[in-house]
Amino acid sequence: MSPRHFLTLKDLSSDELKQLLIRASELKKIHREGTLFQPLTGRVLAMIFEKSSTRTRVSFEAGMAQFGGHALFLSSRDTQLGRGEPVEDSARVISSMVDAVMIRTFDHETVETFAKYSSVPVINALTDDYHPCQLLADMQTFQEHRGSIEGKKVVWVGDGNNMCNSYINAAALLDFQLVVACPVGYEPNAELVAEHKDRVTVLHDAHEAAKNADLIVTDVFASMGQEDEQDQRVKDFDGFQVNTALMAEANSDALFMHCLPAHRGEEVSANVMDKADSVVWDEAENRLHAQKALLEFLLCN
Ligand code: CP
Ligand code: NVA
Repeated sequence: MSPRHFLTLKDLSSDELKQLLIRASELKKIHREGTLFQPLTGRVLAMIFEKSSTRTRVSFEAGMAQFGGHALFLSSRDTQLGRGEPVEDSARVISSMVDAVMIRTFDHETVETFAKYSSVPVINALTDDYHPCQLLADMQTFQEHRGSIEGKKVVWVGDGNNMCNSYINAAALLDFQLVVACPVGYEPNAELVAEHKDRVTVLHDAHEAAKNADLIVTDVFASMGQEDEQDQRVKDFDGFQVNTALMAEANSDALFMHCLPAHRGEEVSANVMDKADSVVWDEAENRLHAQKALLEFLLCN
């Protein structure tokens, strides 16, 4: 039987996702109480990184250690994958020795190919197209602060990137309205928007989009791999900064989220980012708890 993978949020049913988010908050409580809970003793997660990371690496590595298992950090700079060994061959070999594989890479097709040839669950830890692990943490964070996100209005401001595509999937699974405000030419995946047109609206005016929002989310103008476009994007994204004036359009209890790392003064103003009651730090911490729930779901069921 082929293993269960997590390449996009759509690999979970709506009920599975909701259950996983509840479990993430339970695991957070267990961790904070200092209770030892080690369902993955002796199990190993291979973590393949072809792009940089702080949160993803630390959360998966710490999570595996807390669960009694081990995480292997594999940089493409030091593995044969980085020297051109086929993904198919690497998948067969690595998956024969570990219990799960986490991959951060460029082409989404790479994780799909890896999963096809892997004998163990594969987790997408960010591709150019999707970042589903971050959405687990974001949705957990919203739920912990505001309750169910069903029926709420979420506004994505900025690039229609990997995070934005994952928000579209989340809107479909958790039944919220997503308004994407992006400059012309920076829209999210058109097929995905069309598939979920009852849940997603794309606008080109951030202020119009932000009205009555329950959650405003943004991300960097230039993602990893787009560093050469930074200067052009700073110009193109003029008017798409989340700042106090934009937050004022939203509901008074609206939350602001950012997957981090953030560029203060570009996509978000320093005062929004550093607001005393900001949930961005909870959002980052929840990567740990949400991914532990994911690992438990994939490896203990
Ligand atoms: N948000 C996120 O994935 O952060 P890292 O790039 O630091 O892993
Ligand atoms: N969109 C960003 C997210 C970083 C966590 C990137 O892909 O670089």
